[in-house]
Amino acid sequence: VSTENQDVLRAYEWLTKLYHHLLRHTKEGKEGYQYLIDRGFTDNIIDTFQLGFSPSSREFIVQFLEKKGFHPQTMVKAGLLSMNDQQQISDRFRGRVIFPIRNHLGKSIAFGGRSINNQEPKYLNSPESELFHKGKLLYNFDLARSNIRKKEEAVLFEGYVDVISAYKAGVTNGVATLGTSITEAQAKLLRRYVDTVVICYDADKAGIQASYKAAKILKNAGCTVKVANMPDGTDPDEFIQQYGGERFKTEVIDLSDTYMSFLMRYLKRDYNLNLEGDRIQYVESVLDEVALIERPVEREHYLKELANEFELSMDTLSQEIQARRQKIG
Ligand code: UTP
Ligand code: MN
Ligand code: MN
Ligand code: MN
Ligand code: MN
Repeated sequence: VSTENQDVLRAYEWLTKLYHHLLRHTKEGKEGYQYLIDRGFTDNIIDTFQLGFSPSSREFIVQFLEKKGFHPQTMVKAGLLSMNDQQQISDRFRGRVIFPIRNHLGKSIAFGGRSINNQEPKYLNSPESELFHKGKLLYNFDLARSNIRKKEEAVLFEGYVDVISAYKAGVTNGVATLGTSITEAQAKLLRRYVDTVVICYDADKAGIQASYKAAKILKNAGCTVKVANMPDGTDPDEFIQQYGGERFKTEVIDLSDTYMSFLMRYLKRDYNLNLEGDRIQYVESVLDEVALIERPVEREHYLKELANEFELSMDTLSQEIQARRQKIG
């Protein structure tokens, strides 16, 4: 680590502590604290995840960092502070609740800032830097790692709040990709620690689309993939708020779909299975997926399901699979 990056790490450490202190113990942080309490966060959870608040003053954080001896230019370059068109330096997160983003060693290397008054964007993240590569990092991996090992399963969420809400409910093996779908690098990182990954993205259009992508990427990385099935339109945090942590564990996580069941559910959305043409197209699209499965036993299992559901012979389906596998090579 270069001296400059060491400085940046120290600055993140100071700011994490400061934001957290302001949230917990000062009137400047009161609105941030109240926001979190209203969303069901506890003091214990706020401390565990070092959540904080950045006061609305333009100067406060800038002066704090200067007093600690950090060069404003270094801080701007690292994305801790921002500079506007008039060369004015200020805290990019002011007025937002702070979610420190920790690396695998538990050190803050970026922040996510959530607006608490409907200001856009809802979440503002630190820019990429030499220390923070969004596509390589999994949020909460440092805290989740030992639980992932113990439970022999990881749960993959979309956002900070879902991870934290699940953690509070006892699902302590959760990590998040920050907004976008999982990258190959993140999938490989997970695979080094665990075989089974449960995808638990939001049950909205974007989330379901991202689940499909993530399922493919994780499968390619060699994972056993499962996909949670939540009521339409909800996200994990909302489910937990509404139905409680116990039901989240037993009904959402424990009953998550297998990879192929999810694919079938996913592909079905595009077809009206009352129409004969659609039924044929649907079966063909499932066959395309089954042909990609390496284990013969697994292929047969899904073919039987298809054969039953659509009253087709195993012979026909097997031929279709063989033709497809020959094409793939
Ligand atoms: P969501 O819009 O699903 O937010 O985005 P959320 O996690 O449910 O947050 P709450 O419950 O409204 O507070 C999922 C993730 O996408 C990233 C964040 O990491 C967020 O947690 N995101 C979202 C951004 O980076 N910027 C945005 O403006 C929105
Ligand atoms: Mn504390
Ligand atoms: Mn979402
Ligand atoms: Mn969400
Ligand atoms: Mn949410």
